Amino acid sequence: MTNKEIKITYREYEALAELEAGDKALAQAAIEAMDGSYAPYSKFNVGAAVLLEDGEIVKGANQENLAYPSGICAERTALFYAGASRPDKAVTAIAIAAGQNGVLVSNPVTPCGACRQVMAEYQTKSGRPMGIILIGGEKIWRFEKVEDLLPMIFDSI
Ligand code: THU
Repeated sequence: MTNKEIKITYREYEALAELEAGDKALAQAAIEAMDGSYAPYSKFNVGAAVLLEDGEIVKGANQENLAYPSGICAERTALFYAGASRPDKAVTAIAIAAGQNGVLVSNPVTPCGACRQVMAEYQTKSGRPMGIILIGGEKIWRFEKVEDLLPMIFDSI
């Protein structure tokens, strides 16, 4: 028997102003994208912004439904929209922000498992690492690639 260990590294920033210019613009787009959130049930407004290889930013927000499983997260809204409308453009990064009552939640919002799996798919499709910026009111986290949020990604087919 051998004990194994997986190490994940990420950067923590105290404020948006500390981010590199491109990341800052993407983070601000994710915050803006929260305006498109339709969350009458959870009242948890999530925005996501996807950066494409040519610099275009595609936004998405969570969309809820009275039949709860029919809703979808902000990350998948943005990634599926990018995939459907710009199928030939690689995704290079995604930023995610969440708020309640118009105020950013303190801790960075961390994507659900289904969204991580979808991020993995688009990272593979894009053939390059997808940077992930998770925004909170008090701190911001930046991951270099999807593996850092989803170790041992399913890739066996
Ligand atoms: N949600 C997202 O949009 N992204 C996340 O990363 C976490 C959760 C949404 C789903 C649902 O509309 C609401 O937030 C509460 O779970």
